[in-house]
Amino acid sequence: MGNAQESNQYELTVNDSRYVISGAWLGESLLYVLRERLGLYGSKNACEQGECGSCSVMMDDVLVCSCLVLAANAEGREIKTIESVADGSQLSDVQEAFIDTGAIQCGFCTPGLLVTIHDFLASNPEPEESEIKEAISGNLCRCTGYGRIVEAVQLVSIRRSERDT
Ligand code: FES
Ligand code: FES
Repeated sequence: MGNAQESNQYELTVNDSRYVISGAWLGESLLYVLRERLGLYGSKNACEQGECGSCSVMMDDVLVCSCLVLAANAEGREIKTIESVADGSQLSDVQEAFIDTGAIQCGFCTPGLLVTIHDFLASNPEPEESEIKEAISGNLCRCTGYGRIVEAVQLVSIRRSERDT
């Protein structure tokens, strides 16, 4: 961030594209820059305090709340947002499972849940139900239950294992 502080300009790598951010206040969060400067509106701002998971993104393959990351500190990191989950018009298997199980909820919680679940299944391909609940415990929904989301994760796990055998 040293250079960024001196020049008030820095670069971000988001979804394999490079962006020059200039003239920005250096206190801006990564979430703010993604949404308001880069037009990537998939990551949502619901609490801005690291409590709800709606702003979840991957930074160097680590799941983070983008509202808690200074954008200037993300220079040199690989950022992946919810916009990178689908391959063009081809939905990811997690997105398809959300549709198939009726797990899609509102636009605030769903993007963060999808990012979290992709990350979770990459390291735990055959999770127990309790592990799924633990994995999504940082993604808050104030409106409904989590049953169908758990079902969606289980469905992805089954489909991947069938595909790989
Ligand atoms: S907006 Fe970042 S955790 Fe809620
Ligand atoms: S916060 Fe999204 S459905 Fe409740």
